[in-house]
Amino acid sequence: MRPHDSRALWIGVLVLACLLSWVGGVHAEPLPRDSREAAVFRGGLVFANYCVTCHGINADGNGRAARLYDPRPANLRVTDKNDTYLGLIVKLGGQALGRSPFMPPWGAELTEEQMRDIVAYVRSLNLRPDATP
Ligand code: HEC
Repeated sequence: MRPHDSRALWIGVLVLACLLSWVGGVHAEPLPRDSREAAVFRGGLVFANYCVTCHGINADGNGRAARLYDPRPANLRVTDKNDTYLGLIVKLGGQALGRSPFMPPWGAELTEEQMRDIVAYVRSLNLRPDATP
């Protein structure tokens, strides 16, 4: 083999190694459905569909429609409510809990899993060090 050929061989081996590692990445194991990471991921998708108009893309209460409401949509990044309360207000809406009727009830729209996922998502964004986990 001339030196020239062996360089081509090594390049071939490298390309093959890259391809194999790429294919390996593509076929990586999916997150287990019941993991917290998966719930946060799914919750983010639900949030982007149903909540951003009011609560904003960053969940800070500054959605496009936020200025229409008084009180304004809550800044979910600093909520001091626990998971049970968050789950309840998402399911039953603001009015049922003595809050603004403009926070809609989502119980008829979303599945129980989607509502749990949303709570996991909101919790993952929560910036308050003292918030109840
Ligand atoms: C039409 C506007 C609107 C939409 C859409 C909306 N919200 Fe709200 N939300 C509000 C308003 C207004 C409040 C504040 C209620 C109050 O302070 O009385 C609120 C409050 C909340 C609270 C209470 C937070 C706290 O700290 O007490 C949570 C949690 C919440 N919303 C979650 C959601 C989620 C999750 C969605 C999507 C599934 C959503 N909201 C969609 C308007 C909206």
